[in-house]
Amino acid sequence: MKLVLAVLAWALNSAYSEEVLFGNVGGIAGWDLPTAEANKETLQQTLGLLEPNDVLVFEEGSQYCFQGGVRATGLSDVVLVVNGVLKMYDDIDSWPLENGKDGTDPERVQEAFHFFDFHNVTITSTTGQGTIDGSGLNWWGFPEIGYLVRKENRPRLMVMDDAVDITIEHMLFKDSAYWTTLFNNVDGLVIRHSEVSARRPRDNKDNQHSLYDLTAYNTDGFDVTGRNVHIHDCKIWNQDDCIAVKDNIKGPSENMLFERIEASGMGLVIGSIGDSIVRNITFRDSIMKNTYKGIYLKFRDGDSGVIEDIRYENIRIENPSQWPIWIGPAQQAENKTCAIAWPAFGKCEPAPQQFRDILLKNITVANPPRKGLGMNGPMLGLIFGSDEKPVDGVVFEDVVFEGLKGGEEYYKCENVVEGTGVARGKTFPVPGCFKDETDRKE
Ligand SMILES: *[C@@H]1O[C@H](CO)[C@@H](O)[C@H](O)[C@H]1NC(C)=O
Ligand SMILES: *[C@@H]1O[C@H](CO)[C@@H](O)[C@H](O)[C@H]1NC(C)=O
Ligand SMILES: *[C@@H]1O[C@H](CO)[C@@H](O)[C@H](O)[C@H]1NC(C)=O
Ligand SMILES: *[C@@H]1O[C@H](CO)[C@@H](O)[C@H](O)[C@H]1NC(C)=O
Repeated sequence: MKLVLAVLAWALNSAYSEEVLFGNVGGIAGWDLPTAEANKETLQQTLGLLEPNDVLVFEEGSQYCFQGGVRATGLSDVVLVVNGVLKMYDDIDSWPLENGKDGTDPERVQEAFHFFDFHNVTITSTTGQGTIDGSGLNWWGFPEIGYLVRKENRPRLMVMDDAVDITIEHMLFKDSAYWTTLFNNVDGLVIRHSEVSARRPRDNKDNQHSLYDLTAYNTDGFDVTGRNVHIHDCKIWNQDDCIAVKDNIKGPSENMLFERIEASGMGLVIGSIGDSIVRNITFRDSIMKNTYKGIYLKFRDGDSGVIEDIRYENIRIENPSQWPIWIGPAQQAENKTCAIAWPAFGKCEPAPQQFRDILLKNITVANPPRKGLGMNGPMLGLIFGSDEKPVDGVVFEDVVFEGLKGGEEYYKCENVVEGTGVARGKTFPVPGCFKDETDRKE
């Protein structure tokens, strides 16, 4: 009878949920290549065996290292509980490359974790905060030199392709070698109470970004394409775009809300967009302290791209070291658009794509860069459409720079459809090519 009950209990239990501890299915502690390879193998097998309602737990206090290129496909209705640390082993020479199939580049490194067709999967922690650590330092290498050697051939920490209904919460994504996360063509994504941190080790007492810090290049935070995305109550400190809505090659990127974000890096970004459509995106109730850039909308090479129906609201930008507001071509190393150090060095051509219906409301910028290199005045901002497709509809309502003496101007305000650029409320200063409907005017 006892046995029957036990079997019954087991059967019932497995029908509802099975909790699997990674340490019980072969996960091992340690920090060397054989351990990392073994854990990768164990994790891939375990993910392959999980069934709906299963829960895979990385135990509290544990640290498991992994070789890169961990892959899983088609996981459905499961929860991954990370109560410890998952840390990438950082031997660059042994890191696997793509296989060249499906258009992948056989010279390119695989992503650290690459997940395909996940459906209703939650990654969470039940004991505070779980950590996924990219061990980026080796990949970043010696400042500047590391970049010259590897360029952008570095693994993203976590990529999900074509996922549906994903929740990520109570996670820290640390020191990614390259972009921290990328959700390609996602439908339904919530990221909350989570953190991104990509920093070179140093005494970061002043909590500023320096040129040295910046050399942890391309460590984007949350990059997303697709639809129905809600990212909220997150902290991001990195050396590139903090959040970026990017090109979705399978349809528009649309219907996304980002709120209560503390971000410091290259800003809250849409782009770089080439030939796709991005629409109905809101960033609100956020703060960017000691950031490089702030509000950053950018087009790269392309011609048919559209960025429209965009709202930035209730945002404070403190001590930006670069452009706090930029609506124009992407500032990047490639020379087709706009040089990264422009206007100090290089040229800046407008991008031929279309900005339409952009609203900035209740934006405060405190202490903008007093004098940009190669500029006569402060680095306030730029609104820069093209001749062929001028910006069609851009409203600044209560977009205020604190502590300006007056007389300071946006660096550039060009190619905005006559009468569709409007400044309202307390907006100061008024971009040169806008209609002044501010209260100050009266
Ligand atoms: C998602 O998966 C969880 C189990 O992880 C399950 O309880 C829940 O019902 C699923 N949601 C939907 C909408 O199927
Ligand atoms: C715009 O996106 C929000 C989510 O941020 C969504 O609730 C809303 O329905 C979308 N609007 C349209 C017209 O699709
Ligand atoms: C304006 O935004 C700030 C955050 O920067 C917020 O604290 C404040 O409440 C907002 N004001 C209004 C009127 O919404
Ligand atoms: C920059 O322009 C030069 C000359 O037009 C060209 O040869 C080079 O390939 C360009 N570089 C990039 C990264 O596009």
